[in-house]
Amino acid sequence: MKIRTLLSPLNVEELYFAKKTTVVVDVLRATTTIITALYNGAKEIIPVSSIKFAMKISGSNQMLLGGERNAEKIDGFTLGNSPLEYTEEIVKGKSIILFTTNGSKALVHAKFSDNLFVASFNNALSATNKILKTGNNLEILCSGNNGMYCLEDSVCAGMIINFILGKKENVELDDASKTCLILYTKNKRRLKKMLGETDHGKILLAKGFNNDIVHAAKENIYNITPQYLEGKIKI
Ligand code: MLT
Repeated sequence: MKIRTLLSPLNVEELYFAKKTTVVVDVLRATTTIITALYNGAKEIIPVSSIKFAMKISGSNQMLLGGERNAEKIDGFTLGNSPLEYTEEIVKGKSIILFTTNGSKALVHAKFSDNLFVASFNNALSATNKILKTGNNLEILCSGNNGMYCLEDSVCAGMIINFILGKKENVELDDASKTCLILYTKNKRRLKKMLGETDHGKILLAKGFNNDIVHAAKENIYNITPQYLEGKIKI
């Protein structure tokens, strides 16, 4: 098995993902939010890459608009991008159209993948098992930060790589994957602290989203692996 880690979606074109098995990571906060919402009973998440398109396709009262710009709720949207807003009471049975600065765009960017999974620290072990079941090579797509590198997604990529190495022999890592593994090993006992020290973590803390950091740092609390199929993410 070969694992390649893409440190930003800008590294490759959309068609790169054709026939690939991909897992998208955006720990702060889009993939953490998607996993939490689906665990809490949301019917599906529809990731979009523009606010205009999100507005256009929203319609029925079974649909909620969620997401952020500059980490804050968008005018006219029901929900922001805090995973803690996506409670069972609010999301159960609902379709959620999600626009975020990096994560929803990364998912749309990788849409041609044969298998497209969603992961964060909250479900990394479950995602690993699902990935291994495909028997394919893996692309780990880190959503990054406005086209730039971000530490938290690399550390989560490293966690997935570490789980895979514990379950499978003859795994070949590219240089970025090797780097992610080192970063995970260095930070595995201080995930919450690490998150609070990242560029985006500092912004979230300054805006009062402390509990999002605590939630995002929780390891393997959800035994689900959301998967993108024909424009929708479901369990
Ligand atoms: C993103 O997709 O860029 C993030 O989830 C941003 C955030 O929630 O603050």
